[in-house]
Amino acid sequence: MQRDPSSPEPKPVSFSQTTLTELMIPSYANFGGKIHGGILLSLIDKVAYACASRHAATYCVTVSVDGVDFLKPVEVGDLVSLMASVNYVGRTSLVIGIKVIAENVRNGIQRHTNTSYVTMVAKGDDDKPAVVPPLLLESEADARRFLEAMKRRELREKYKDAFDNEKNRIAVEENLDKLSSQRCVIGW
Ligand SMILES: CC(C)(COP(=O)(O)OP(=O)(O)OC[C@H]1O[C@@H](n2cnc3c(N)ncnc32)[C@H](O)[C@@H]1OP(=O)(O)O)[C@@H](O)C(=O)NCCC(=O)NCCS
Repeated sequence: MQRDPSSPEPKPVSFSQTTLTELMIPSYANFGGKIHGGILLSLIDKVAYACASRHAATYCVTVSVDGVDFLKPVEVGDLVSLMASVNYVGRTSLVIGIKVIAENVRNGIQRHTNTSYVTMVAKGDDDKPAVVPPLLLESEADARRFLEAMKRRELREKYKDAFDNEKNRIAVEENLDKLSSQRCVIGW
């Protein structure tokens, strides 16, 4: 591939890989005694920022978060590690993949609680989107993650277009019968 001389030098995925480990203290718990989803979201955002800004060498902002499904609860006392790496770079945007692991410190058992993908945009001193360095893919796994991020973006755009189109065609009066088998009550 021909390099654009005005573009910054590529940086390897390993350059910006970041792990954030935090102990889940009682003040992070919800009324059910498990860790608040918002605490984990905040940590995801924090590690995504650290990883993206290392790669971009600029301030970055969060644009979107994909794949936040909390399938296993995180307990008070767990040691949570969030492993972040740049999966994809566009011109000014970066997709950071984050794997979240919760470890029970008493028995050492680790659970993979979720994997999320955060899109960040690098900002320049003028507060405008800034061009980020290309990503140096050092392994087949790096290339796979890059291709997966491209596919995720493509499918997300298709989904958005399809949903926007469908949403505009939903006629409430004509579809009220579909609600009869749902757990809702029409109250007007
Ligand atoms: C992110 C932001 C700068 C994008 O502004 P914009 O006018 O759309 O800028 P551009 O059209 O030049 O897009 C910049 C990049 O963002 C990407 N982008 C924009 N909207 C996006 C979205 N919804 N999902 C994924 N990427 C998106 C574009 O694809 C582009 O990437 P590329 O340069 O790699 O091709 C702007 O939306 C913003 O400042 N948002 C607020 C961010 C913030 O404050 N986050 C914290 C939330 S509390």
